[in-house]
Amino acid sequence: MTAKAKLLSDYQAPDFTIDQIELTIELDAENTKVTSTLRVQRQGKHDRPLILDGEQLQLQSLHIDGQAVPQQQYHQTDSTLTISDIGDELTVDIVVTINPAANTSLEGLYLSDGAFCTQCEAEGFRKITYYLDRPDVLARFTTKIIGDVEQFPFMLSNGNQIAKQQLADGRTAVTWQDPFPKPCYLFALVAGDFDLLEDSFTTMSGRDVCLQLFVDKGNLDRADYAMESLKNSMAWDEKVYGLEYDLDIYMVVAVDFFNMGAMENKGLNVFNSKYVLANPSSATDQDFNGIESVIGHEYFHNWTGNRVTCRDWFQLSLKEGLTVFRDQCFSEDMTGSAVNRIDDVAIIRSHQFAEDAGPMAHPIRPQSVIEMNNFYTVTVYNKGAEVIRMMHTLLGADGFRRGMDLYFERHDGQAVTCDDFVAAMEDANSFDLSHFKTWYQQAGTPEVTVTDHYDADSQTYTLEFSQQTPATADQADKKATHVPLRLGLYDSDGAALPLNTDSPLTDGNVYSLITDTDTLVFNGVASHPTPALLKGFSAPIKLSYDYSDEQLLTLSQHCDDGFTRWDAMQTLLARYIWGIADGVINEVPTQVIAGLVAISQNQHIDDALKARLLQLPTVNGLLNQREQIDIHALLDALETIRQQVAPALHQTCTSLYSELQQSQYSLDAASIAKRSLSASCLSWIAEANGQQADQLCQSLYDSSDNMTEQLNALTIANRFDLPCRSSLMDQFEQRWQDDGLVMDKWLNLQGCWNSEQCFDNLKTVEAKPFFKLTNPNRARSLIAGFAAMNYRYFHAEDGSGYQWLSQKIQNLNSINPQIAARLINPLTQWRKFTAPQSIQMKACLEQIYQLKDLSKDLHEIVGKSLEY
Ligand code: TRP
Ligand code: ZN
Repeated sequence: MTAKAKLLSDYQAPDFTIDQIELTIELDAENTKVTSTLRVQRQGKHDRPLILDGEQLQLQSLHIDGQAVPQQQYHQTDSTLTISDIGDELTVDIVVTINPAANTSLEGLYLSDGAFCTQCEAEGFRKITYYLDRPDVLARFTTKIIGDVEQFPFMLSNGNQIAKQQLADGRTAVTWQDPFPKPCYLFALVAGDFDLLEDSFTTMSGRDVCLQLFVDKGNLDRADYAMESLKNSMAWDEKVYGLEYDLDIYMVVAVDFFNMGAMENKGLNVFNSKYVLANPSSATDQDFNGIESVIGHEYFHNWTGNRVTCRDWFQLSLKEGLTVFRDQCFSEDMTGSAVNRIDDVAIIRSHQFAEDAGPMAHPIRPQSVIEMNNFYTVTVYNKGAEVIRMMHTLLGADGFRRGMDLYFERHDGQAVTCDDFVAAMEDANSFDLSHFKTWYQQAGTPEVTVTDHYDADSQTYTLEFSQQTPATADQADKKATHVPLRLGLYDSDGAALPLNTDSPLTDGNVYSLITDTDTLVFNGVASHPTPALLKGFSAPIKLSYDYSDEQLLTLSQHCDDGFTRWDAMQTLLARYIWGIADGVINEVPTQVIAGLVAISQNQHIDDALKARLLQLPTVNGLLNQREQIDIHALLDALETIRQQVAPALHQTCTSLYSELQQSQYSLDAASIAKRSLSASCLSWIAEANGQQADQLCQSLYDSSDNMTEQLNALTIANRFDLPCRSSLMDQFEQRWQDDGLVMDKWLNLQGCWNSEQCFDNLKTVEAKPFFKLTNPNRARSLIAGFAAMNYRYFHAEDGSGYQWLSQKIQNLNSINPQIAARLINPLTQWRKFTAPQSIQMKACLEQIYQLKDLSKDLHEIVGKSLEY
């Protein structure tokens, strides 16, 4: 396996550029012919050859300016076509053939249930034809698709349809033209038979945009929510950023075979059907949320990604961090609730912190990449969004908007770097972000420690800060970074105190920690206050301050910031979970239990927040708080704490649960919050009284008409292995077995079934006709359900859980390397665990590393995991 890393520091502007491409694609499942005409120009004075990227292509012919290129003038390798002795301006005609039916990697041109579709980001276009497959080469695309119109009533590509003709041989040719120059990763083609939902949107300047949503036949009753979300996104971007859509047509196609969430191809988004198709009986509240945010995300890319794109793939966070930030803000505005922020933070703490402390640690702008697909990570996306959010915090909403305006003014139509983005923010606000840029260069989670001192005589309160970032797999030495801390001080009743200090705080009481240590003094403080130091999770850091239990309880009950309330309760519970796991204590103190009960009974807390406050810390979150973890001791401690808390919560949860039942289904925020809290209550009831929960789950499942509640019933029956579990699972299977998307929920539950029978069960489930390793949604549901959620059995003492995953990874290695490289993640964390787990996990990785034909994707990840 030859896998060489590319370095950010080696970036060179392209030797040639292509400003125009005409593509003709003659569809055939096994033998698609791709003809391309490229207008090529040499950049600058040099005599280097033209080196085009191309993989798995059969070259049929090659012409320059109409002349066949002689053999000795070109040279092919596995991944390139080099043409030498060429002029400064030339037209290159290339004909290749490709085999979409054999393409299970779902990158390039492939078949999804009989429909042709493409996925070109990051480097998939090179599997369609020879090209300069890099984002800083921007060309105008004209695409002619030729196929049988009976079989493919819809033949789509980017931009506007400019011609449709019937050919002499009976085939139809449809031609599309995209007026906006774009990098080839934004190219798309779709051909198939679909149901079509149409709508329109009038932009702020009064242009009518035709909106088209293509779904598999028979699925129109699941398309409305995606369309609504699209219109909401378009309106939101106009309102918040003054950004208007720029073509006359916006198409979204939902496909069943897709590696990621969705893709922002210009004017023709391709979506994983999971993020389009939903109605109340087939989809949960969470699914609806996912659709809103992914539809928003891809739409927002039209400006942050497409109109202004990335110079090179190291700059991925330029578009992804920014666009995730934009979709998070959109969702927050749509629901108007504090819990969105809590849920976003939970992702960072459970997954991003783990990545940043593990073998694949990388800054949001990586410096070295072997396989680009491995860097579509929670670091680049979600930590990237946190970095943008910190700039928003430091500059304020208006300042941030000024920076965005300048960014578009300067760079519309260009391929730029993260530095260009930061420069626009700085210049629009005369704000120095030079130190802040450490966030782009440094991996790892900064740790900020705070101590305090109260002086009653002078009525001063002093906070002392120190920061430190631990070494990561990719970098040993770390510098202090710029950490914005949103502060609050509270009295013993939880009332907010005014902040009087001579040090500069920016809007909203944001203090910038920029040095290794610093001190902040508050004046006129009447008594020792309780500080809130990271309100709204104002920086993606670990913060420690030695709170008393009482202070945490006060914050959780009264703080004016939803995140801080949740964080206080999580901190308190984690304290006792670790205490029990370490064998230091046996029992959760009664005042902690009383605090949870008080929250459950507090009528001033809205339902959505209450549901989060009543949740225990996640296993993943806990794993990121320590090194060398005895996983079974940790799981036992979680069990113990649940058992100790549950009896106290039982009564309130029982009555809350019945009060929360709704006679009518509705998708508004208040109803969603009720369903969410009612699920939290049901799980506490199950912990306290299995028999009662069994009845409640059974009757909820039977009486409910919506997937959210039915899945809540099933999830709890599954987690507690209640008597009704197996009959409910069977009923569900009977009802939905022909519906892959819905069966994903069932597969996931089977994966995380907390039962001794789970291994035998996995075998049965894998043999089901609806389970296909070639379908990423099916594979992920079952495999990640087991390896990332079924801690008890994934970490089974005899190593059988690791071996099961390892086997799936070996199968997926040849089917779909991208998916294999994602699903292997739980094994790569082996250093987190004590022996024998760590040793068994490592042995599985070593076995995989020996595979012949190991993909570049797995090679990079397994290699790093073993060596670091
Ligand atoms: N740019 C896509 C997004 O919106 C990411 C994506 C979709 C992707 N499909 C992919 C990345 C395939 C790599 C490979 O986030
Ligand atoms: Zn994106």
